[in-house]
Amino acid sequence: MLQSKLPAVGTTIFSRMSALASECGAVNLSQGFPDFPAPERLRQALARQALEGHNQYAPMAGLPALREAIAVQLAHHRGVVCDADTEITVLPGATEAIYCAITACVSAGDEVILLDPCYDSYRPAVLLAGGVPVHVPLDPVTFMPDWARIEAAISRRTRMLVINSPHNPSGAALAREDLETLNTLVARHGLLVVSDEVYEYLIYDGRTHHSALQFDALRAATFAVFSFGKTYGVTGWKTGYCVAPPALTAELRKIHQYVCFVAVTPVQQALADFMRAEPDYPLTLATLYQHKRDLFNRALAGSALRLTPSAGSYFQLLDYAALSDSADVQLCEAWTREVGVASIPVSVFYQQPPAQRLLRFCFAKQDAVLQQAAERLCKI
Ligand SMILES: Cc1ncc(COP(=O)(O)O)c(C=O)c1O
Repeated sequence: MLQSKLPAVGTTIFSRMSALASECGAVNLSQGFPDFPAPERLRQALARQALEGHNQYAPMAGLPALREAIAVQLAHHRGVVCDADTEITVLPGATEAIYCAITACVSAGDEVILLDPCYDSYRPAVLLAGGVPVHVPLDPVTFMPDWARIEAAISRRTRMLVINSPHNPSGAALAREDLETLNTLVARHGLLVVSDEVYEYLIYDGRTHHSALQFDALRAATFAVFSFGKTYGVTGWKTGYCVAPPALTAELRKIHQYVCFVAVTPVQQALADFMRAEPDYPLTLATLYQHKRDLFNRALAGSALRLTPSAGSYFQLLDYAALSDSADVQLCEAWTREVGVASIPVSVFYQQPPAQRLLRFCFAKQDAVLQQAAERLCKI
């Protein structure tokens, strides 16, 4: 008999809720993707590149023109200098970047600290590498890290720590002081870091995104992971990149070349064209998505749902404690069927969920869709 390597894993909640939403005709605020088109110029670039014949394998590390555009963007928006040849790798999505970084560095018995709640791909990647995930909870109200608690979880076997800011599912964003503390921890304990920054430009109320690449000890120890899908509104193009020092990049590429080998060529060409033509496009995202967050949250003012406005990402948590005692997984399904709004239960992002009543709603949707969802939620 085949023995499963991931016996506890089934179909992800994201696929299940999206399927249920379409089966029930519910407004789908569950999965994280925009329901409005990406910039026309970007879509035209993809069509043009495919028509012009850029349809064969790209170089394994990514198209030089795209890696160069990434280096320019990092220098321009973050003040980070990196070498496009030895430090930037383009991969089919941030998910593969995370998988390759973990697989490259984690060996049997190595511990990896994950901060719960966290994105669902981290734990399986650690397990498949033979590593031991050590889950440390974020603060249950603010979703910020307790660094003393994290340091207490570091052992002789700790190899790596995974951070994610802006954060999925909570929408929390790390402050500069958090990165400074982590910078000290990493230097003191000799840890590696995966910094999942896929929502870097989705940050609100005048906050600034702080990249791990901007701090010296972190810069030397971090795989920083980004997603074109999130930044350019094309999640279906499944293209992302990883920035890491040359020695770490070399190991990441050894895995990448046998997992996917390359990312899709015309997509990379189109992204390179668009980034060159509209270098400041990502800076428009905070205003666009903050408007959507505020529209959704304002429209919920008359409901018994409680919220703290999301600091970043395109997710808003709603606390339904005043409306129901049900567990979030059951309530989520019930509201998809009966209220007509699909969301994601927050407990699925935990190994040991606290006693919370929280659902995650994606507000990367057209204004009318957000309005309709909020009206339905207000009627509960
Ligand atoms: C925190 C986080 N990391 C990584 C990803 C995956 O990004 P990609 O689609 O580029 O693989 C997601 C997608 O939802 C995410 O929310």
